[in-house]
Amino acid sequence: MTQHNSKRMFIGGNWKMNGTREASTVLTTELVAAFEPLAASVDAAVFAPFPYLQHIGSIIRGSGLLLGAQQVSAEANGAFTGQVSAEMLLDVGVQIVIIGHSECRKLLAESDELIGEKVAIALSTGLSVMLCVGETWQERQSGQTEAVCRRQISAALKGIHLDHMGAIQIAYEPIWAIGTGRSASPEDAAISHAALRKDIEDLYDPSLAAATRILYGGSVNSANATSLFSQPEIQGALVGGASLKAADFASILRSASQATSSRPN
Ligand code: PGA
Repeated sequence: MTQHNSKRMFIGGNWKMNGTREASTVLTTELVAAFEPLAASVDAAVFAPFPYLQHIGSIIRGSGLLLGAQQVSAEANGAFTGQVSAEMLLDVGVQIVIIGHSECRKLLAESDELIGEKVAIALSTGLSVMLCVGETWQERQSGQTEAVCRRQISAALKGIHLDHMGAIQIAYEPIWAIGTGRSASPEDAAISHAALRKDIEDLYDPSLAAATRILYGGSVNSANATSLFSQPEIQGALVGGASLKAADFASILRSASQATSSRPN
C-alpha cells in the first residue's frame, strides 16, 4: 500500500442517512462532472448509504471519485443481524470506510476498543479507512481536547502495523462542530491536527506522521473551506451537510485544489 502524499488534499462527502436513489443519482452525476477538471489535483470520495453503494459506484466508475461506506462491522461474518462486513463492502466496490464517527460512537455506543477492531478488519480486508476522532464541547472547555484525541487514536490504531498505515487517514471532527454550523477556527483545528500528528509520531515514527493525511470535519462549507485550507496542517475535509449539494461540494473541491497548488512541495 502506498503512503499518502500529504500535500495532496482529500475531500470526503459523508451523506449520512440522507437522500433517495433518485436524488443521489442526480447529486452524483453532477459531482462526477464537477470533479473531472479537479481529479488531477485533489482526491475525493462519496460516502453513500449502504443501499445505494453499488448504484453510486456504477455512476462514479472511471471518474477518480472513490466509493466510500459509512460503517462496517468488526466481525468477519455470522449471526450479526443488520451488520455489514468489510468483505461485503469490498465485494460491492467500496474502497474506503468511515470508522469511529462520533454519531456512531454515541448513538450505537461504539467503544474505543470496538473501533480499533473495526479498523483492523477493514485494513486486513483491503479497505482504506477514514478514522474519525474528536472531543465534545465540555471536553474542550475543560482542556481535555488533546487527551481525548490521543486516547481515541491510540485505541483505534492499537496493533495496526506501520505497513498498513498508508491506508489510513484521520478526520479530526470536534463533536460540537458537527452539523451545528459552528466550525472550529482554522487556527484551533490546526492545533488539534498538530497534536494528532505528534500522537502518530509517538505511536510510529516522524516520517509516517508527516505522511499521514489529517482532515478536518465539522460544518465545513463553501464559505469557510478556503480559510480552513489556508492551514497546511489541514489536508482536506470530511463534509456532511454541504456534501448534499453538488454546487457546494464542488466549491469545496475547488478550494482544496487551489490550496494544494499554493502549498510548497
Ligand atoms: P457536517 O458533518 O459537515 O454536517 O458538520 C460532518 C461530519 O459529520 O462528517
